[in-house]
Amino acid sequence: MSENTSTATAYQGMLRDDALKGKTIIITGGGTGLGRSMGTYFLKLGANLVITSRKLDVLKQAADEMAAETEGKVIAVVCDVRKYEEVENMLTQAIETFGKVDALINNAAGNFISPTERLSPNAFSAVIDIVLKGSANCSLALGKYWIREKMSGNILNIVTTYAFTGSAYVVPSACAKGGVLAMTRSLAVEWGRHGIRTNAIAPGPFPTKGAWERLLPGDMAKKFDFKNRVPLKRVGEHQELANLAAFLVSDFSGYINGEVITIDGGEWLQGAGQFSALEMVPDEMWDSIELATRKAN
Ligand code: HXC
Ligand code: NAP
Repeated sequence: MSENTSTATAYQGMLRDDALKGKTIIITGGGTGLGRSMGTYFLKLGANLVITSRKLDVLKQAADEMAAETEGKVIAVVCDVRKYEEVENMLTQAIETFGKVDALINNAAGNFISPTERLSPNAFSAVIDIVLKGSANCSLALGKYWIREKMSGNILNIVTTYAFTGSAYVVPSACAKGGVLAMTRSLAVEWGRHGIRTNAIAPGPFPTKGAWERLLPGDMAKKFDFKNRVPLKRVGEHQELANLAAFLVSDFSGYINGEVITIDGGEWLQGAGQFSALEMVPDEMWDSIELATRKAN
């Protein structure tokens, strides 16, 4: 990224130091990638954190490193989001440790590229179960808890821009993320009266090991460089996503409910615009193109 003033701020935290003080936040898939980056920033802002996934060793190491970096309180709890009993156990552990839970980030996901006709039914289900069923399980457990305890709550779903456009070659993921987006808008209305807000973030490309190994394996990362698809000609910085997520889980966004906020440098709109490919026309060609089009007037 070029180091001009506007892009240099992409590496900096945005909110004031106590923005999440006293809040307990669960992040599924919080030991790696974007979940870890969001969690690290939440800890810096004073939150208590519960990070969960299927792999205890990964979670424990992440929790230790995140706590050392931020001096915040973070616990690692194994929880396969596909299994409702594990989600309930995770919530119980979170409440036993921190007294209450204020927010849930549905961030855990599974994905890989494949022509759809090559998928087995089980491959399709593997992605749907993690993304859609997992997000539903966690939202359900937390929603029941908040409503029972008459507490306000906050759900933030991490989707993708192809949740609203669809995408070839990642069809199970597109179906699942589209479902999570529908759930976001539905619960925002249904649970709003309980003081539970539900929002989503649709990120464009933010390099992570998990996503890049499965979506751009081998030398595909060179051939299919994501930044060429983005009008701003760069991928996202994790801190930029963390800033947006922190705002959405904080009380500063208290009147935002049912919204999906895209953070993709304009990527999906470029893909949608019929004439977007004209960016390949060299500047010096536009004089002759103008002449030719004016002739038609
Ligand atoms: C075809 C595949 C396959 C592949 C797995 N399967 N990989 N089929 N092509 N590349 C099939 C298997 O053969 C099996 O079907 C079924 O899928 C389940 O596979 P398992 O390995 O048993 O599943 P599991 O251990 O649960 O792993 C789930 C996973 C894996 C989704 C397959 O990739 C995973 O654990 N992912 C978690 C992390 C992740 O994906 N991160 C990226 C998120 S990025 P059969 O029929 O043989 O039993 C993201 C980005 C969006 O969402 C946009 C970015 C720009
Ligand atoms: P990642 O590091 O691979 O994160 C996925 C996480 O989900 C992992 O920690 C994984 O941990 C966890 N997970 C998978 N299956 C699970 C299960 N059954 N139960 C509990 N946890 C499970 O990838 P990432 O790029 O940071 O992705 C984070 C989120 O951002 C995802 O929702 C993804 O769709 C979204 N996103 C990413 C990008 C991007 O460019 N990176 C773009 C758009 C959207 P375990 O394997 O240990 O369980």
